[in-house]
Amino acid sequence: MGPVSDTDTVPAAPWWRDAVIYQVYPRSFADADGDGLGDLPGITARLTHLADLGVDAVWLSPVYPSPQKDAGYDVADYRGIEPVFGTLADFEALSARAHELGLRVVMDLVPNHTSADHAWFRQALAAAPGSPERARYVFRDGRGPDGELPPNSWRSVFGGSAWTRAAAPDGTPGQWYLHLFDSSQPDLDWSNPEVHAEFEDVLRFWLDRGVDGFRVDVAHGLVKAEGLPEWDHDQELLNGSAASGERPPMWDQEGVHEIYREWRRVLDSYDGERILVAEAWVTPPERLARYVRGDEMHQAFNFDYLRAPWRAGELKRVIDATLAAHEVVGAPATWVLSNHDVVRHASRLGYPAGGEPTSGVGPDDPQPDAELGLRRARAATVFMLALPGGAYVYQGEELGLPEVTTLPAEVRQDPAFARTGGEDRGRDGCRVPIPWEGDAPSYGFGPGSASWLPQPPEWARLSVAAQTGVAGSTLELYRGALALRREHALGHGELEWDAGLTGGDVLAFRTRGVLVVLNLSAEPVAPPAGARPLLVSGELVDGSVPTDTAAWFALD
Ligand code: GLC
Repeated sequence: MGPVSDTDTVPAAPWWRDAVIYQVYPRSFADADGDGLGDLPGITARLTHLADLGVDAVWLSPVYPSPQKDAGYDVADYRGIEPVFGTLADFEALSARAHELGLRVVMDLVPNHTSADHAWFRQALAAAPGSPERARYVFRDGRGPDGELPPNSWRSVFGGSAWTRAAAPDGTPGQWYLHLFDSSQPDLDWSNPEVHAEFEDVLRFWLDRGVDGFRVDVAHGLVKAEGLPEWDHDQELLNGSAASGERPPMWDQEGVHEIYREWRRVLDSYDGERILVAEAWVTPPERLARYVRGDEMHQAFNFDYLRAPWRAGELKRVIDATLAAHEVVGAPATWVLSNHDVVRHASRLGYPAGGEPTSGVGPDDPQPDAELGLRRARAATVFMLALPGGAYVYQGEELGLPEVTTLPAEVRQDPAFARTGGEDRGRDGCRVPIPWEGDAPSYGFGPGSASWLPQPPEWARLSVAAQTGVAGSTLELYRGALALRREHALGHGELEWDAGLTGGDVLAFRTRGVLVVLNLSAEPVAPPAGARPLLVSGELVDGSVPTDTAAWFALD
């Protein structure tokens, strides 16, 4: 069977069902004005990189006005652009250029909390307990004789208590406010209809400006259990349910779904296929699938896949469970290996299976095996891009960038680092600015040498320019994989495990006339006679797939 083209056999399906969406982390992508922080004109100038790579859409981490206490996930105004990143006109230019290149644009929406600098929060602090201004947030009286103890035992994801005591308008200690993240990120109260109305309006503001969708931050957190019942476990960004299976009172509550139904109705009233993507750290996959029921969101990040250890059995279990859960609700699965919150997969996989770090690595921690990590990362990506559904690529992974594990404490900016006294190393190591041209200062990130986090000297040889056109480079591997994925319409495929090859530490499946093999075992795996190699993450050895390698074969 020759290559099948999308149009031959796949009925016209909405773009997002098999989309590859590229995450741009604006602070670190490209810096046009040379202040060391990336910006919108920088992104616009580099969009051809994404078109050449072959992705379908770009998701921008938040670019709204923000004091940047949590790198923009602390929004002070949902209807503007942070001056450090540019202007609304710059955003419109970016969006127009992206659309011209055939790329869709997905914004990041942060509805769980605002910045403490948001007008609403300032008004709340200035108003009295019980006022409508305070009712937009979660203010409560403290416990203890003078209210000096937090209202309950909840912990912040970033460490410490999830409550901070506010001063009363007269300056004396007053009520406490809830923040599941940093104290500069007060949680909104989604039982308040005013909050619903405000976000519906924000959605329309951006939809009217032509955005193609929203990635919804902490989508599992908006609604808290009635009465804020005690929960004195440590929080992690990654835990949507406790080890005991008990659901924490701040995550994955039933009420969130009504919000997404409201939003879906708004999106559906616009032309085109505008999408909602859930960032919901919930397990098992059946719980995640509830976010993508027909009248809710379109996609949800598959964090179970991201977290699966490098073992064939565990990967297979996650894939099977994901596909089964999504099939029930008729939504496409998604696959993701890296983002701005986790250790880059080129480093994560350089640790023994099962011992992968999730949140940051410091200079004194055990260091990853860089060569092994990259080899496995390339295999992991080649395997992932053949799976049916949508996929996410985080900026820099197409260059094989590792986590920067040696950042000294004084340059680290993630609030999680400071709030835990450095115990949580934080996420700066996956946020280091992108190298574009090896011989330029800041490797072409900006016009000068400024870069908000230092780039390691080894990154010169990992730059886009250094890898372009170089056979076997990680960049060319991604380009090749994305082109073949499109040509064979693999995102629309149906996975069928190859019972002969799958087993032990080997995974193999067939999809749309392509055989995909991932070998995690010590022995090489021979493909069936006549299988023609289409793509290999490393090199075949005597026609077989060696250890920690993935390959696609055409079954002619
Ligand atoms: C999400 C974001 C993360 C942010 C947090 C709080 O998990 O991905 O970067 O710190 O929400 O907004």
